[in-house]
Amino acid sequence: MGNRIVIRNERKEDERTVEELVRDSFWNVYRPGALEHYLIHVLRNDPLFVRELDLVMELDGRTAGQVMFMKAKVETDIGEDIPVLTMGPISVANDLKHRGLGRILLDDALLKASSLGYGAVLIEGNITFYGGSGFIYGRERDIRYKGLPEGADSSFFLLRELIPGYLEGKEGVYGPPEGYLIDEKDALEFDKGFPIREKLRLPGQLI
Ligand SMILES: CC(C)(COP(=O)(O)OP(=O)(O)OC[C@H]1O[C@@H](n2cnc3c(N)ncnc32)[C@H](O)[C@@H]1OP(=O)(O)O)[C@@H](O)C(=O)NCCC(=O)NCCS
Repeated sequence: MGNRIVIRNERKEDERTVEELVRDSFWNVYRPGALEHYLIHVLRNDPLFVRELDLVMELDGRTAGQVMFMKAKVETDIGEDIPVLTMGPISVANDLKHRGLGRILLDDALLKASSLGYGAVLIEGNITFYGGSGFIYGRERDIRYKGLPEGADSSFFLLRELIPGYLEGKEGVYGPPEGYLIDEKDALEFDKGFPIREKLRLPGQLI
């Protein structure tokens, strides 16, 4: 294997391959089965979708990973809307996980987002993976996660400033764009177009 990595924009002809990769990568990770392949299918047509940051990673010509971004906002307590990005899903092909590719893809995507002038990326995720790429807890910038009761664990809510200090002193609330709230029934219907795979209930799943 030559290990030649290319990170480029997703093309129309990649879409099915990427959906298969996302499905396999998320399968049985957070729930029995997965919904994320339907999610990306829907997000690509969302008005908040950022086409320039719809990225595919190739390893020696093979599709190895993907990441996408959406426009979002922080609503400050003084009524200001601050434009930000959110990111996800991000995934790496199952047989290529834990070799550093996810980190390479994430860091490259953040550089691209930064060069396009975006100020910050706010996400739900695990600090173990994202912390290594400069993400901090949302609470470190006085930003609350929409709908989360006071005192509840918010450690899933992370942010990364692309412009240093972009969210400093900006007390407010962030919530993911509505496009992420897909209908599970529609996702299950969409999944029928993919090869049958066993859904398993496994430890560590969220649902
Ligand atoms: C999460 C994912 C994209 C990471 O890609 P990867 O190529 O396996 O990750 P890397 O090998 O680059 O690992 C980067 C770091 O994150 C950590 N890490 C990897 N996967 C992790 C996971 N699922 N949870 C927490 N930490 C993780 C590794 O320990 C590694 O730490 P290090 O850089 O300090 O050694 C990949 O595992 C994946 O596709 N998972 C399924 C889909 C998913 O969960 N996406 C994220 C949704 S928030």
